[in-house]
Amino acid sequence: MPKALITGITGQDGSYLAEFLLAQGYDVLGMVRRSSTVNFDRIRHYQDQVTLVQGDLLDQVSLINILEEHRPVEVYNLAAQSFVPTSWQQPVLTGEFTALGVTRLLDAIRLVSPTTRFYQASSSEMFGKVQEVPQRESTPFYPRSPYGVAKVYGHWITVNYRESYDLFACSGILFNHESSRRGLEFVTHKITNAVARIKLGLEHELRLGNLDARRDWGYAPDYVRAMWLMLQQDQPDDYVIATGETHSVQEFCQEAFGYVDLDWQEFVVQDPRFMRPAEVDLLVGDASKAAKHLGWEPSVTFRDLVRIMVDADLEALQRNQHVPRIFLG
Ligand code: NAP
Ligand code: GDD
Repeated sequence: MPKALITGITGQDGSYLAEFLLAQGYDVLGMVRRSSTVNFDRIRHYQDQVTLVQGDLLDQVSLINILEEHRPVEVYNLAAQSFVPTSWQQPVLTGEFTALGVTRLLDAIRLVSPTTRFYQASSSEMFGKVQEVPQRESTPFYPRSPYGVAKVYGHWITVNYRESYDLFACSGILFNHESSRRGLEFVTHKITNAVARIKLGLEHELRLGNLDARRDWGYAPDYVRAMWLMLQQDQPDDYVIATGETHSVQEFCQEAFGYVDLDWQEFVVQDPRFMRPAEVDLLVGDASKAAKHLGWEPSVTFRDLVRIMVDADLEALQRNQHVPRIFLG
């Protein structure tokens, strides 16, 4: 069985990637950091099929020890401080996790197991104030948040270790991808969760920031397949993964409220608390390189994505499943 290590296995993408790799016959290792309460909600249903190992991107010795003990053939670096607004509150910590954490892991691979293949979770947030529409692999970066700046560092250090040490290191420039496992602070899940609560009479309004921002939203399980495909190629490379369609936050609201026969304008309130110091106004990706070389294409439309998320939130609330309240976004 090939062995793969996933950092960030407890997050949205890590949980789907682990499921995908298990189905491909991998022995899956997941790196988790110690916390005072366990946060394995997303992986609980297959927790006994993966090996969880303790480590942290802030602690290089923990990374070296994991690689020495387990010798994975593939490493997927999905761990990061991934919420953009938090990166203005904690810019240095975001840099430590999201930027320098990549170097710690790459350097551990270089020292311990240089034939291990490496995937870096890069982001469309790197395009920021976009220099070209649509954005492709060659589009210059212009990040607009400490998170985006940290991801640019992570991207270039991955390219640099590939060129300096001949590591099989790939960077996937993934546009926004969502699911019912998305953190509740991200706008899509914040909206679908509120739609379900309002429909069930549990809440009466939804407070949002910038309704005009446009994103290229895809479905997370499609995107983890692309990560794996990148590491199965003959040569390491970088790929944009996107749907090629862009929609505004307002359109997302319209679609989600409309699906349950509600008018979004009766419930959505704009709140300056959720505006950002600098915004990314428009993201839309060109994934033609991934289509050509990886044979990758998205399988879920924008409309279906919204419906999948609203249905999951309605079902969770109707089952009286505890849905935690968030305070971040
Ligand atoms: P997520 O749900 O926020 O998950 C982040 C994961 O990173 C969690 O498992 C978290 O562990 C872990 N983590 C954070 N800091 C860590 C540290 N210092 N050491 C070890 N683990 C740490 O993020 P996601 O949506 O799955 O995204 C996965 C990756 O893709 C991230 O790098 C993100 O920046 C990037 N990305 C995401 C998107 C998207 O649309 N989802 C698009 C482009 C790029 P805890 O559970 O302990 O907090
Ligand atoms: N979170 C949030 N909350 N966003 C809001 C709100 C709100 O109340 N109101 C409007 N928005 C707007 C934000 O200003 C932003 O333009 C857009 O909704 C999307 O915000 P998020 O869902 O928080 O995602 P993001 O685009 O900032 O970042 C996500 O995608 C990146 C890839 O482009 C994250 O997953 C990043 O980790 C990822 O790299």
